Amino acid sequence: MQKILILGATSPIARALALKFACDGAILYLASRDANEARRVADDIGVRAGLAALSGTFDASDFPSHDEFIRHAANELGGLDGVVVCFGTLGDEDAAQADPDAAIATLHQNFTGAVSLITLAARHLEQQRSGFIIVIGSVAGERGRARNYVYGSAKGALALFAQGLRGRLAKSNVHVMTVKLGTVDTRMTWGREGALLTIPPAKAADLIYAAYRKRAEVVYVPSFWRFIMGAIRLIPESRFKRVSF
Ligand SMILES: NC(=O)c1ccc[n+]([C@@H]2O[C@H](COP(=O)([O-])OP(=O)(O)OC[C@H]3O[C@@H](n4cnc5c(N)ncnc54)[C@H](OP(=O)(O)O)[C@@H]3O)[C@@H](O)[C@H]2O)c1
Repeated sequence: MQKILILGATSPIARALALKFACDGAILYLASRDANEARRVADDIGVRAGLAALSGTFDASDFPSHDEFIRHAANELGGLDGVVVCFGTLGDEDAAQADPDAAIATLHQNFTGAVSLITLAARHLEQQRSGFIIVIGSVAGERGRARNYVYGSAKGALALFAQGLRGRLAKSNVHVMTVKLGTVDTRMTWGREGALLTIPPAKAADLIYAAYRKRAEVVYVPSFWRFIMGAIRLIPESRFKRVSF
């Protein structure tokens, strides 16, 4: 039985993904900032999958608590075979572009918090020489856009971090998969434009799980984002700085 820690478990994407792992017999520890909601998600998954799930809390920005949190989760699970990193927030981009504290908060919630937690979990997986880490990133990390470059830079940095970690952990038989997620219908994107390219969380989870089963390294979800971002990367900087999407 695989023992898997899901970080950001109240995200509907994480929740749908967790259900897939649970239906395949994994024991889960579901964590978010909101203890009650994490418990509700765990109970729901327990009923649907017929396998009790554990739950707990963490805060990506509370760095001193991370070591104890990872130890506690691994203890409760009775080991650790995999970690899914699905927490993040758009934050207040307007504030972040004007106020360094708001910018740093966005970076902590999307990048440095993940660096801290992944580094601690990776130490554990590397020592046992097996396991996996799934890092949910964003196509927003592929190119800095005027409208969301603080969030985008955090996701871009996270993708580079995951890429380097993948190389390091390959020697220890630990697999790292980076997900470059397009727009998914969640509270994060509610009320925003781009509905044509938006997919439901369950579809995102299906695609992520299929990629995990194939041991993909970098996956665009859905796959058409690979071509969209390929085209966007080709736009010369002198033009790109004038686009408003
Ligand atoms: N939706 C999209 O279109 C889209 C596109 C590309 C990438 N993504 C990425 O997909 C992931 C999931 O996002 P979502 O769309 O499902 O949004 P969501 O529903 O808002 O879920 C965000 C998750 O992150 C957790 N979280 C936020 N700040 C945290 C913190 N400081 N410490 C610990 N947990 C924290 C939330 O926990 P609480 O319940 O405690 O707040 C929640 O579980 C994020 O990494 C996001 O950047 C989403």
